[in-house]
Amino acid sequence: MSDVVYPNHLGIIMDGNGRWAKEKGLNRSVGHKAGADNLVNLLDYIYNNTSIKVVSLYAFSTENFKREKNEVDYLMKLFVTLFNTKLESIKKNNVKVVFSGRRENLPKAVLDSMDKTTDDTKDNTKGILNICLNYGGDYEIVDMTKKIARQVLNGSLNIEDITKEVVNKNFYQDLPPLDFVIRTSGEKRISNFMIYQSSYAEYDFPDTYFPDFDSKCLEESLDNYRKRDRRFGNAK
Ligand code: IPE
Ligand code: IPE
Ligand code: MG
Repeated sequence: MSDVVYPNHLGIIMDGNGRWAKEKGLNRSVGHKAGADNLVNLLDYIYNNTSIKVVSLYAFSTENFKREKNEVDYLMKLFVTLFNTKLESIKKNNVKVVFSGRRENLPKAVLDSMDKTTDDTKDNTKGILNICLNYGGDYEIVDMTKKIARQVLNGSLNIEDITKEVVNKNFYQDLPPLDFVIRTSGEKRISNFMIYQSSYAEYDFPDTYFPDFDSKCLEESLDNYRKRDRRFGNAK
């Protein structure tokens, strides 16, 4: 493991739960449940077998509220179960869980389970799991701008002192930049996921639907990452 290069910060856009279910003649909810079960296994693999330090997950976008009430309600219940019980191994693994997104529109039960998870894991040091829930990259930039504007208005920050570090500190979470983003299910877009933090990320778009995206698929994506030549503007 030590001589293999892993990204420091991995993003996963967990897509394809609905199509996975539909192709089996099942309800979309069954796909979301299968996706959540797969996620727990995948996270155990990542934190036990790789040196990836930070994982950002796209769990629910601000746009996903446009879906039918049944599906949204099911997902919200699934989040509560996931955070309250299924993430137990993450907590035992010394991983700190944080959330990104707007709190408005989220049911109280979800907010409570998020707060408890954050609190239970706040002193963990092995890795970070950032869960993007009711998240939009455009809203994150709007919310960061408002936070900074307030500090300028109340005199605690000078305009000249606004740097990239200040911008990052005023995002939902102060995280290192994304090195690698995987979107499952074959869609080749980022759908408002961490648009600022992924400005220099490498991407992989495997065709596999998220419920089937196991540790073997992840290693295949990581192999693709290792073949990339990250130049950051340098001459070759
Ligand atoms: C991703 O799977 C899960 C969420 C967006 C919450 P989808 O539900 O988008 O699955 P597809 O894209 O319809 O197959
Ligand atoms: C992006 O997937 C959001 C999550 C994976 C949570 P969507 O399925 O909602 O994205 P679009 O609608 O295909 O862009
Ligand atoms: Mg989708």
